[in-house]
Amino acid sequence: MAELMAGMHRSHMCGEVNRELVGKEVTLMGWAATRRNLGALVFVGLRDRTGIVQCMFDESDYPSDYTKVEAIRSEFVLALKGTVQLREEHNINPNMKTGEVEVKVSDLRILSESETTPFYIQDGINTREELRLQYRYLDLRRPELQQKFLLRHRLSQVTRNYLCDNGFIEIETPMLTKSTPEGARDYLVPSRVQPGKFFALPQSPQMFKQLCMVSGFDRYFQITKCFRDEDLRADRQPEFTQIDLEMSFVEPDDIMTVNEGLIAALFKEAWGVELTTPFNRMPYAEAMERFGSDKPDVRFEMEFCDVSDIASDCGFSVFEGAVAAGGMVKGICVKGGNEKYSRKQLDALTLFCKDYGAKGMAYIGLNADGTLKSPIAKFLKEGVADAIIKKMGGQAGDLLLFIADGKKTVVYDALGNLRLKVARDLDLIDEDKLGILWVTEFPMLEYSEEDGRYYAMHHPFTSPMDEDIPLLDTDPGAVRAKAYDLVINGMEAGGGSIRIHSKEMQQKMFELLGFTKEDAQDRFGFLLNAFEYGVPPHGGLAFGFDRLCMILTKSQSIRDVIAFPKVQTASCLMTGAPDYVEQKQMDELYIASTLKDE
Ligand code: AMO
Ligand code: AMP
Repeated sequence: MAELMAGMHRSHMCGEVNRELVGKEVTLMGWAATRRNLGALVFVGLRDRTGIVQCMFDESDYPSDYTKVEAIRSEFVLALKGTVQLREEHNINPNMKTGEVEVKVSDLRILSESETTPFYIQDGINTREELRLQYRYLDLRRPELQQKFLLRHRLSQVTRNYLCDNGFIEIETPMLTKSTPEGARDYLVPSRVQPGKFFALPQSPQMFKQLCMVSGFDRYFQITKCFRDEDLRADRQPEFTQIDLEMSFVEPDDIMTVNEGLIAALFKEAWGVELTTPFNRMPYAEAMERFGSDKPDVRFEMEFCDVSDIASDCGFSVFEGAVAAGGMVKGICVKGGNEKYSRKQLDALTLFCKDYGAKGMAYIGLNADGTLKSPIAKFLKEGVADAIIKKMGGQAGDLLLFIADGKKTVVYDALGNLRLKVARDLDLIDEDKLGILWVTEFPMLEYSEEDGRYYAMHHPFTSPMDEDIPLLDTDPGAVRAKAYDLVINGMEAGGGSIRIHSKEMQQKMFELLGFTKEDAQDRFGFLLNAFEYGVPPHGGLAFGFDRLCMILTKSQSIRDVIAFPKVQTASCLMTGAPDYVEQKQMDELYIASTLKDE
């Protein structure tokens, strides 16, 4: 290898070659991204992580073996020496950073050859994602992805600097540990030394960071992997990265303020914008009433309007029944939407709502001639349609959509998702806008009808709001928590809470969640014991770092900001993981598969 590179010392990165270097000799290394052979002239676009520069080989003025030049193919790795020159006026490419110049090559080394790649390595090319992921290392050569990972790298530096400047210290916590209840399934690792026992990979460092507070570290942070065996979506991966932090002697305001500073620093780095702080705050109950979601997308309006009062005595049995059953009727007003949805498309919207548990969707379209397009108008008593339209601010051309249900949660869920769908259908979301807010005062507990028990909405270590503590004994479902989520553009970017720091309250919480004293001691004994030895009031938060990177790079999928991501089936198409292992390995670990051969 020494010979191959001898005398070739890179002087510049490809993207750095510009007007100021005209007349100078440069030595560049990179990949042949493009190659055009015009006979006596060969043009190669040489690419490295900083960009692409045009390199020109002129047969009539080439000092050595020109056959080597003709041998260059796409994705060959080259080292070359040449002189920077201005391109002729008509060859200037204003879309390229290096578009004014080219390098007239005098010396070339082919450092490595390449097979024909399975797809063109170029941005904007339509290649099946499976193929791109199978050859992820080739896909990652694309300038667009390179830019995303360079930004991701800078964002983690900004995070570290910001948190260090604010008195946080970075502490690593174990990957081989006990299960932390964050609500997903655990990834388990068998112990060889202790047959039959398993480690769990952390769903988050939650308990360890709390114990760091008991240890007196005061402010902790970590940029760390978390593992959750749950169904994947566009914004979820089985292993993902959190910016995780915890602080002692604080109230929710202190935590939100520090994190607003961090988010502002990240947006400044990525977009060069100054965010206005403090961010808006909205209690959970209000978010549900206005948007039907605990992560409302506030970049567009179309807020819910509650028409239960009018609907309770309107003549239409579905509406009246919903209100009588303790539920509600809510609607949204789609401005100018009447012409945009045909009856057939409205039927499709109804089916969409049914997927979210609604029994139907009602609509009133306001025709330009003053008549109504509505299958429910005929049921409504005199004046009711007008009253509803007035309350919702409906005008000629608008479309009003309604969900009625005896269960409020069904109305929130169906109408909330309908609101998002309509916004996407009609292109109402301004991608340049930023919708950022804290959602606060989450319910402490969530009741599962199916399991007949309460679950922690955030996690079991979250502190109830002081004024709601008496409700723990009388109406646990109504207890609000000192918990907050940061929502950006309708996505949960992060969440946290003030923690319980007394053993009695923690035990009470475990009890409400259906753990017996013995269970709780068995699983969380180490935490409960620690609570006997002087615990500072504390709280914290974790951001999904991948999600932040997604937002900041304006990516549609979380896979675009993870170097080697997994697909829907939680597998890696490049390595083929997960995979079967040797029987010998299984035997050593004292495990056997119960899977029957087909
Ligand atoms: P939580 O479970 O809300 O809180 O997680 C914090 C943030 O992590 C991100 N996130 C994910 N990102 C990608 N893929 C996933 N599967 C995934 N799951 C979660 C989200 C989420 O807001 N220990 C607490 C934090 C605390 O209380 O301090 C916790 O983990 O952006
Ligand atoms: P029906 O009388 O059941 O045919 O319903 C008449 C209209 O009311 C139809 O357009 C239904 O889609 C609508 N509808 C039915 N159930 C609901 C509901 N729970 N909420 C809103 N609209 C409904």
